[in-house]
Amino acid sequence: MIHLVKSTFYKEKETKQSLIDFISGASTLSMGKECAKFEKAFAKKQGRKYAVLVSSGSMANLILVQAMMNLGMFKKGDRIGVSALTWATNIMPLLQLGLVPVILDVSRTTLNVTPEEVEKKLGKLKGLFITNVLGLSDDISKIEKLCKKHRVTLIEDNCESLGSRTGGKLLGNFGIASTFSFFVGHHLSTIEGGMVTTDDDILHEMLVLVRAHGWDRNLHPDRQKKLRRKHGHDEFHAKYIFHDLAYNARPTEVTGFLGNTQLPHWNEIVKKRQSNFKRFASAIEKNKDLVPLEYGHMDTVSNMAMPVLAVSRAQAEIYKKKFAPHVEIRPVIAGNMLNQPFYKKYVSDLRRYDNAEFIHQNGFYFANNPELTNEEVSLIVSLLSS
Ligand SMILES: Cc1ncc(COP(=O)(O)O)c(C=O)c1O
Repeated sequence: MIHLVKSTFYKEKETKQSLIDFISGASTLSMGKECAKFEKAFAKKQGRKYAVLVSSGSMANLILVQAMMNLGMFKKGDRIGVSALTWATNIMPLLQLGLVPVILDVSRTTLNVTPEEVEKKLGKLKGLFITNVLGLSDDISKIEKLCKKHRVTLIEDNCESLGSRTGGKLLGNFGIASTFSFFVGHHLSTIEGGMVTTDDDILHEMLVLVRAHGWDRNLHPDRQKKLRRKHGHDEFHAKYIFHDLAYNARPTEVTGFLGNTQLPHWNEIVKKRQSNFKRFASAIEKNKDLVPLEYGHMDTVSNMAMPVLAVSRAQAEIYKKKFAPHVEIRPVIAGNMLNQPFYKKYVSDLRRYDNAEFIHQNGFYFANNPELTNEEVSLIVSLLSS
């Protein structure tokens, strides 16, 4: 049986051993040098000025939206576009913080929000928190341009697409900030963990503040001094001054250490996932029962899981049954967000979105683990054949 989670880490055995050694030798296990080192290395690899490490991808989304609200970039009541096909905690921070999510339907062939769909809703939006679904995007360069032209602030939930590229640019580098997840089964695993990246100095500073209680302790010393002087806080009280609305979303040194252990495997992991993806996608293309994916515009598809869409619900049932004894499957992410109880409870706009519903009814996914053996990949390819 090929499970959704094949291992906790890439190179599991040696990673676990080095984790044991690290913990036994470490004097500090709360956020410290390892976290800072991982942030620096991750920002460099992603090609961003800053990276802020947090306890999960969901917290990355929450602190990003909170930081933008603290800075006045979004205000209560603003309408923010989101993908109909995403994870719940992409939309939840908007509801929690008094913003209004506006659902955008996705394409059946890229699974992502299209520029045409963005264009339809642009007039209503203050921001767009787009999800790059399962290593893919639609024409995100065009979406970025549309957003700039219409002064819509673009941010990306890149929790599912680390390492994917289009137009020579890594996904996660199109908006002013983007989020990542390091949960088990994602591209890089730190067990739990997440990151926010940005090039914006002011947003970075606010993210650091929002990650830890709203205090200034983790800011650059010069900035810290300026803030303390501005507000007239003496050194004795300064450490216990809370500047703005915040959480405790801090990672531990274990997260940082694991990030530093997994990061050097980035290229290898992406390469293997891309190569598996191509074999799966080409089997799907040859099978008339299945809907082919559109990915010619992508330079690299680094997907942690492979979506399969059947042409009809009846066909989907046939393929689900075919996979079940051999390969663990699940809905595509969590299906159409409009079907979720939390969404029905808190959002009044319950219009149907055809493509997300099609994916909900006719789709499933299986894991694209970089350590799948050749035999396992071949087995999956045979299941994807008619
Ligand atoms: C698009 C998306 N956003 C956010 C998350 C949340 O990440 P985490 O599980 O690290 O909280 C996920 C998780 O799979 C996701 O797929």
